[in-house]
Amino acid sequence: MPMLTYKRLPYLKAYIHVLAIMPLVYLGLAIDADALGGDPVQAVIHFLGKGALNLLLATLVISPLAKRYKEGLLISTRRVVGLYCFFYASLHLVAFAWLDLGWDIALLLKELVKRPYIWLGMIAFIILLLLALTSPMWVHRKMKRNWQKLHNFIYLAAILTPVHYYLSVKSGWIEPIIYALLVVFLLSQRRKVVIKLLSNIYCFFKKT
Ligand code: HEM
Repeated sequence: MPMLTYKRLPYLKAYIHVLAIMPLVYLGLAIDADALGGDPVQAVIHFLGKGALNLLLATLVISPLAKRYKEGLLISTRRVVGLYCFFYASLHLVAFAWLDLGWDIALLLKELVKRPYIWLGMIAFIILLLLALTSPMWVHRKMKRNWQKLHNFIYLAAILTPVHYYLSVKSGWIEPIIYALLVVFLLSQRRKVVIKLLSNIYCFFKKT
C-alpha cells in the first residue's frame, strides 16, 4: 500500500517549499554577513546556477521513484519542484545580468561571443520558461497531447545544463562530469522518449 496519501501530500509539499527556500535564506544571510569570499558576485551566480541544476535533477528523479515504490501521488510534486528550478534559474540569470553586467545589453552581446556556453544556458532557460508558463492544469487540459510533447523538452534542458556548467569552469571539471553522468543515468530510464525527442530536433534542423 502507498505511504503517500492525499492527507499526507500537503505535508510533503510544505516540506519541499521549506527545503527549496532554505538555501535562499542561507544565501541572503551569507551576503549580509559578507561571507561569500573574494568574489561574491561569482559566488551568487554559481550558487543559484547549481541550485537550479540540482532542482532540475530532482524533477527528473521523481517519476522513477514514484514508479519504483508505487507511490503514484509523488508525481504531483513534480510541478512544484520544477517551478522552483525555474525560480532558481531566473535568479541565476538576474544575478548575471544585474550584478555581473549591470543590465548592459552591449556587454551581454560581447559576452555571448566571448562565452558561447551562455547560449546553452539561454536555451535551457527558455525551455524552463515555457514549461513554467504551461504548468497550470487548465493549460495542460487545453494543450492536450502537445503538452507532453512540450514538457519532454525538459530532457533537452537536462542535457544542455551540465554542458553549460562544464564549459563555464576553467578548472574543477569533476563536478560537471558527475552531474552529466547523473543526467545520463536518469535519461537512460526514458531512452525511447529521449531518443525520439533528439531525432525530432535533428530532423527539424536538417529540414531548415
Ligand atoms: C539565460 C540563461 C543563463 C545565463 C545567461 C547563464 C549564465 C551563466 C554564467 C555567466 C555562468 C558562469 C559564471 C562564471 O563562472 O563566470 C554560469 C554558470 C552556471 N550555470 Fe548558468 N546561465 C543561464 C542558464 C542556466 C540554467 C537554466 C541553469 C540550470 C538549470 C544554469 C546552471 C549553471 C551552473 C550549474 C553553472 C556553474 C556554476 C558553478 O560553477 O558552480 N544556468 N551560468
